[in-house]
Amino acid sequence: MTSRAARVHCFPRDARLARRVAARAGLACAKIRVHRFPDGESMPLVASAPGKNAILVRALDGQGANLFDTLLAADALRRAGARRVTLVAPYLPYMRQDKVFRPGEPISQRVIGDLLGRSFDRVITVEPHLHRIARLGEVVACQADSITAAPAIAEWVKRNRRDSLVAGPDAESRSWIESIARQADTASAVGVKHRDSDRRVRVRFAALARRSRAIIVDDIASSGATLAAAARALRTRGIAAIDVIVVHAIFAPGAIARIRRAGVRRIISCDTIRHPTNAISIAPLLAAALERKT
Ligand code: R5P
Repeated sequence: MTSRAARVHCFPRDARLARRVAARAGLACAKIRVHRFPDGESMPLVASAPGKNAILVRALDGQGANLFDTLLAADALRRAGARRVTLVAPYLPYMRQDKVFRPGEPISQRVIGDLLGRSFDRVITVEPHLHRIARLGEVVACQADSITAAPAIAEWVKRNRRDSLVAGPDAESRSWIESIARQADTASAVGVKHRDSDRRVRVRFAALARRSRAIIVDDIASSGATLAAAARALRTRGIAAIDVIVVHAIFAPGAIARIRRAGVRRIISCDTIRHPTNAISIAPLLAAALERKT
């Protein structure tokens, strides 16, 4: 059970998600104010008692400032009296650069994991991009819990697209896609993906189960090139009605248009990143994770 001394904290822009998580976990939720200095530096301010066990719900994105404010907030919560500080970050940025693909590159996943592990006692996140390691704890050096969005996605598919083929764009997603399809009681297919550059992706599907509609499921949509390529590949296999579900709705400029041009009808996302496509709430899964182990 979540300790009575626990309290949820959030930056103003994350209030909606934080309140949902807090309400589900039966905890109070307090806002962290941000003071902006004339030179642009920022200082998060903890105005109320943080609770012995402070939980920071933070929608991280790929912006450095957002990550830096998060580290400062952890320090502020400790100095205000928290003994244990948990970060609930539904999306963990920088996880995809998980090896040196070409000489001269950093391993961003390690750097960010190290920073978070030093600042927090526990990190809870949803579907981090762990293609080359088995557990989040291998890169985030504290109690690190990675939650799968599969049950929430499967539930949505079952309710709204019962007989759709659940399609994943690449081999790395195979077990995740198969688990979603199993829970949604439908068939699945996994493509073969080649990325030529940031915005050029090719996807191919071998023979598919006979279905008139498909739903492509992926963990992240950034440029939208992967989803668009997967949609085009499914259409060449004779499937005309295609929707997509993505966990982390990054959607860089032009991404939605790119996906639509590939013939996708509905674009749906989980609410790990606030976006107009949010239709699947992961707050219940986050609250359950908090209650399990604090
Ligand atoms: C890659 O392995 C991920 O699972 C996503 O497919 C990828 O990050 C999506 O990026 P984009 O939308 O830029 O193709």
